[in-house]
Order: sequence, then structure tokens, then C-alpha cells
Amino acid sequence: MPVEFNHTIWHARDSRASARFLTDILGLPEPGTFGPFVTVLTSNGVSLDFIDSPGTISSRHFAFLTTEGEFDEIFARIRERGLQYWADPARMQPGEINHHFGGRGVYFEDLDGHFLEVITRPYGAK
Ligand SMILES: [Fe+2]
Repeated sequence: MPVEFNHTIWHARDSRASARFLTDILGLPEPGTFGPFVTVLTSNGVSLDFIDSPGTISSRHFAFLTTEGEFDEIFARIRERGLQYWADPARMQPGEINHHFGGRGVYFEDLDGHFLEVITRPYGAK
């Protein structure tokens, strides 16, 4: 595989708080720092580089692939925190999860309104 996705910039009103929110919810290692960024490293080596961003933040979509066991833990934390969640990206099914591709999936928002998704099977999985 000649090309791998390596990192992206994640705009946040408070980069430290938003990075911490993500690591706490997903059960990832503590955030690090690199220059002006607060960094979150996922298991497949992608770095999510949070940066303080004044003004309006455009909502982006980020999806995370987990095991079934990790999904249980993440979904429990979503509910413990009383976060809104949906089974679908159009938010027509609040308080539900989906079972696409024989797995489970859920959508919720982070502190800045980025639209996060956790799935246990990649799109198109058979
Ligand atoms: Fe998605």
C-alpha cells in the first residue's frame, strides 16, 4: 500500500478539552503535543491534531472503527454522559444505534459540533 492517511487538523474552541473529550470517550491514550497542536493518536497510526480555532468552527465528520468490546465501552460512556446519539447521519433516529454490515454503529457530537461516528464493521463489509 503506497499511501496511508497520516494526520489531519481538528479545529476546536479549546483544543486540550476537545482532545481530552475524544480520548476519554474512545478510550485512547492521553493526548500529546506537537508545536501548537494537541495530538490524539489512533491505533492505526493516524494523528488527529487539535488546534485552538477562534470564531465559527465548521462541523466535520470523523468515523472510528472499533471492536465490539470497545463499542460496548464507548457506547456506555456516551450514555453515562447523557450525550445525544443517533443511528443515522440525518439524525432521524435519536437514541438508537444501527446494525449495518452485521455490526453496530452510532453517531454523536463532540464539544464543537463535529459529527463523530463509531462503527464495528467498515462500510461495505460482508
Ligand atoms: Fe460516516
